[in-house]
Parts: sequence; structure tokens; C-alpha cells
Amino acid sequence: MSIELTIKQDVDLSSFNTMGVSAKTSFFVEVCTIAELGEAIQFAEEKGLEILVLGGGSNTFFIKDFTGLVLHISILGKKFSSREDDILVKVAAGENWHAFVLKCVEMGIGGIENLSLIPGSVGAAPIQNIGAYGVELEDVFENLEAFMIDSKEIRTFNKSECKFGYRDSIFKKELKGKAIITSVTLKLFRNGEVNTSYKALSVLLESKGLSKPTIKDVSDAVIEIRQSKLPDPKEIGNTGSFFKNPVISVQQFDLLKSEFPELPSYPVTERLVKIPAGWLIDKAGWKGKRIGDAGVHSKQALVLVNHGKATGEEIWNLAEEIRLSIKEKFDIMLTPEVNVVG
Ligand code: EPU
Repeated sequence: MSIELTIKQDVDLSSFNTMGVSAKTSFFVEVCTIAELGEAIQFAEEKGLEILVLGGGSNTFFIKDFTGLVLHISILGKKFSSREDDILVKVAAGENWHAFVLKCVEMGIGGIENLSLIPGSVGAAPIQNIGAYGVELEDVFENLEAFMIDSKEIRTFNKSECKFGYRDSIFKKELKGKAIITSVTLKLFRNGEVNTSYKALSVLLESKGLSKPTIKDVSDAVIEIRQSKLPDPKEIGNTGSFFKNPVISVQQFDLLKSEFPELPSYPVTERLVKIPAGWLIDKAGWKGKRIGDAGVHSKQALVLVNHGKATGEEIWNLAEEIRLSIKEKFDIMLTPEVNVVG
């Protein structure tokens, strides 16, 4: 039986990207079921249209208009299955990530409390292996289901098949544009340990006298830290971290450290070190700077903001200037963390 899909034309995406830039898509469709997803893909194939999946639009940055079909995934649902030692939770891709985290916290289910307040949808979470305050999605990941565009079948991916890395997965590489995530299953717990390994988090919890923090304490603390540094997209347009934290060789790090002894770092392997791009951008004098309505956030230099009417191109030009200046000052080329369209 054929489904009646409402496919709109020339849709403004200002309210579908948290940077709040004005960009249009030639075609737009909201899908609420897998059957609708199949129909929408068939439409795109018949018309020869490129497909762009948008969840919350919190990690997609439009430099200009998109000439294909935007698929807004609104598939909803959650299923909790208790096992002896853990709880498997299957969540549909269109659910809001933070609302889902809060639901788990309220139910006393742990594992993703450190990932509180990350904007976006559940389906987007595995694509960049979201991470914050010592936890990455892969730490609690069991499997996911995706609609494969070529075969039109649902395929299950286990953890190793997802090839997770730092803000990375197979869905950003080999399977980019080939698979659409429809649900994610996580392995969570009721009586596990909370993770307070991230310095800013443990410092805040200690200052509150919480020596044995609960899941809710950790979630509240993460929310407090994020709110103090990261702008709320409802108030000021942004896509969170605009760049990835660069991973450099120990040799290059030692050289930089001798020049900038206060440079923070996180070990990756014996030979590689990750350093905060926010620190580099801050040190290069960009924090709080503004060119027209395109700006660098005043409390976290890794976040580019739209003060009002900045265009995608204006923000992209600012990003390019920042990249050049970081290359010149530190000999490091920053790469975008956001998914750039255009
Ligand atoms: N820093 C500065 N100046 C700045 C920003 C940061 O000196 O303007 C320094 C901080 O003082 C700290 C270090 O850089 O020593 C790291 O800063 P922070 O703890 O804020 O974390 P981050 O490395 O800048 C990453 C993620 C965030 C995540 C936080 C917490 C990336 C690209 N970003 O930021 O993720 O919330 O860690 O875990 O990995 C996102 O992906 O959108 C995001 C916000």
C-alpha cells in the first residue's frame, strides 16, 4: 500500500539548524515510520536527489542552500528490557537525546548521565560518537539499526561494525549517505559506578560536598557546567564545538609545551596527544571576537556563534580565518567537528 507523504518544496531551514542560519532545501519531508522513510528514499531516487538526514540540526552547518531532499527523522519510541546485570534500552532515532537522558536519570538508570544536555536527536548520537565529561557513546553502546539505502533493508550494526573513534564512526566515512539510523540500543545499568574522572566535573562535585555522587548528582553537575560555558541554541545560534580537538604527535606536543607550559592535554596513545582546540583559539586571541554577527563565544572559544543575522558564509569565513591563524601560531590545522553542508 502506498503512503501519502507530504513532501514540501523550497523550505527554509532556519529553524532546523541550531546555528540559525538561513538556508533553503529544495525538498523537505518529515518521516515518522520506517515505511515512510522507504517511500521518501524512493522519491529521492526517482528525482535523482541527494539525501541529507537532519535530526535536531545541532551538528549540521549550512554554508549555503541544499539542492536535494532533507529527511527530518521523527521516528519515536523507547523500550526498556531489564536483564540480570544491566538494562538494554532501544530508542528510536527521532527521540530528543537530552529528554531521553533525563528519563533514564529519573528512572535511576545510569550510564549516560555525563552526556546530559547535549543537543540533538538519538539517531545523530552514534554518527559522531558523542562524548562529554569522560564518557563517549561507544562506552554504553550495544547496537543500532539502520535503513540501508541500496538494499532497502534494515541492518543491525554491533559496536565493532560501527568503527567508533573520537567524534567519528563508519557513518561519517564509508557509509556516509548510505545508511540512515532508525534506532539505537544502549546497555545501561541500575547499580553501577558513576564516572567522575573528568577534572571539571570532579572539582564541581567536590565543591558541593558530594563525595559519593548519585546518577542525578552527576547529571545536574554536567548540566551546570555546560550551562555556564556553552550558549543555549534557543538564545544564541551555535552548533556546540565547531572544531575537533586536534590529535598531534608527542614530539610536536613537547615543542609546544616548552613554549606554552600551561597547554592542557589528554593522552591518546604513547605517541599521540589530544589538545583542546578551545585553548588554542583562546590563546590566539579569538575568544569573544566578532565579525558582524559571526562570533566566537565569550566563555568557550571552541564554539562559534550567530549573534543574529550572520549567514552561513560569514560564519564559514570566520572559521577559515581562525584555522589560518591557528596554523600560523601553532602549526596545527583544525578540522571541523560539525557536518558542513554546501
Ligand atoms: N579552554 C580554554 N579556553 C577556552 C576553551 C577551553 O582555555 O575558550 C581550555 C579549558 O580551560 C580546559 C580545556 O581547554 O583546560 C578543555 O576545555 P573543556 O573542558 O571546555 O572541553 P573541550 O575540550 O573544549 C570537549 C568537547 C565538548 C565537551 C567537553 C567536555 C570536543 C570537540 N569538544 O570540549 O563537546 O562538552 O569536551 O567533555 O571534543 C561538542 O562536541 O559540541 C562539545 C561541546
